[in-house]
Amino acid sequence: MKVLVIGSGGREHALCWKIRQSPLVTKLYCAPGNPGTAAIADNVDISSDDIGKLVAFAAAEKIDLTVVGPEGPLCAGIVDEFQKQKLLCFGPNKAAAELEGSKAFSREVCRRHRIPGPNFWAFDDHQQAKSFLDNREAGPIVVKASGLAAGKGVTVCKSSEEAKVAVAECLEKRRFGEAGGTVVLEECLEGPELSVITLTDGQTIMPLEPARDHKAVFDGDKGPNTGGMGVVTPVAVMPRMRSQIESQIIFPTVHAMNREGRRYQGFLYAGLMLTNQGPRVLEYNCRLGDPETQPLLMRLQSDLVPLLLATAEGKLDTMEAPVWDPRVAVCVVACSGGYPGDFKKGVPIFGLDRVVTGPDLQVFHAGTSRKLGGDLTTAGGRVLAVTALGADIGAARDRAYAALQLIEFQGMHYRKDIGLRT
Ligand code: AMP
Ligand code: GLY
Repeated sequence: MKVLVIGSGGREHALCWKIRQSPLVTKLYCAPGNPGTAAIADNVDISSDDIGKLVAFAAAEKIDLTVVGPEGPLCAGIVDEFQKQKLLCFGPNKAAAELEGSKAFSREVCRRHRIPGPNFWAFDDHQQAKSFLDNREAGPIVVKASGLAAGKGVTVCKSSEEAKVAVAECLEKRRFGEAGGTVVLEECLEGPELSVITLTDGQTIMPLEPARDHKAVFDGDKGPNTGGMGVVTPVAVMPRMRSQIESQIIFPTVHAMNREGRRYQGFLYAGLMLTNQGPRVLEYNCRLGDPETQPLLMRLQSDLVPLLLATAEGKLDTMEAPVWDPRVAVCVVACSGGYPGDFKKGVPIFGLDRVVTGPDLQVFHAGTSRKLGGDLTTAGGRVLAVTALGADIGAARDRAYAALQLIEFQGMHYRKDIGLRT
């Protein structure tokens, strides 16, 4: 069969790497892809946001399955447009993807269906948000742009004063454009975080292994939030917490979406905080995480393609649970100096040819670029996702960090503490 992967990040490189291994796949395309996907798939020069051209390409090439990586096209309704042309497309439709597209909506869903999350207050009026902050009790509070902001729209504030600055950035200065037209203020929760991604066709759920992302840019969780600087999987979760996550969050969310008339089919990502009172939803994503995907897919031993097909066709109940490599995977992201703020692009990357990759070590490309026949350069904030398997966290860390030692580009930054404290 012919498969098309949409997107150009580390997640999509990992998806292509895994899908390529399926004996069912005879032809693999990636649009637009990156230099990493170019080595294992045919890159197609169509932007992931150009839904019209993507539909036309899939129809012309008779693509059997399209797999959408990023949230942008999902929230814009790419699945609906493929379905109109009777083309099979993996991911939630526009109505279901709103779970990520609007944090105000997702919080309302949690409230309506009693899914545990922090208290929250949504505002689109700056004056009202300010007077709410003036009148609340002192203490930390979280400010979120309601719309899509590439993981950068959240500020954890120590005080109302700090929160007012973050609110003004959203509502007045429009730092996140329309995505910040509504802000959601949230009670600040405490506890370890966990990414739980599940396959669901709206009836059956099939959770992947739990993973832990590291969102802050610097060691010790310091500095501003990024899209994710590194991931460890699996993460030990107490059986009681595990069953609460399924019974209080995952199943209720899938049911809630059915009851809202927005059947959810695809990867459902719940970003959780494991508080002393039980698991709480910090956010939903309507897709696989980046970089969670990279270590998860390196540990997935089952063929991914039948699982994707069954989910998109509403037959997930016919599938066996996936088989996982029992080893630990650690993924460390090398990013451009300055990210998540301003950074330089077009910086030459050296040393990749010195890294010996294989089933236990992969360097997934994210923001990289290669001009025809030219050198590899940086092209984004997160540049490479070095991902390694090991018998334990220490062994996986050693393998990943040893590879990073061989790679260099001017300004390169990565966290040194991925997996140190899990
Ligand atoms: P989100 O994109 O909504 O998951 O938020 C990004 C990060 O901000 C999370 O991974 C948490 O570290 C932090 N965060 C978000 N919401 C809260 C909250 N209500 N309380 C404490 N920290 C939060
Ligand atoms: N790594 C977090 C995300 O994909 O949103």
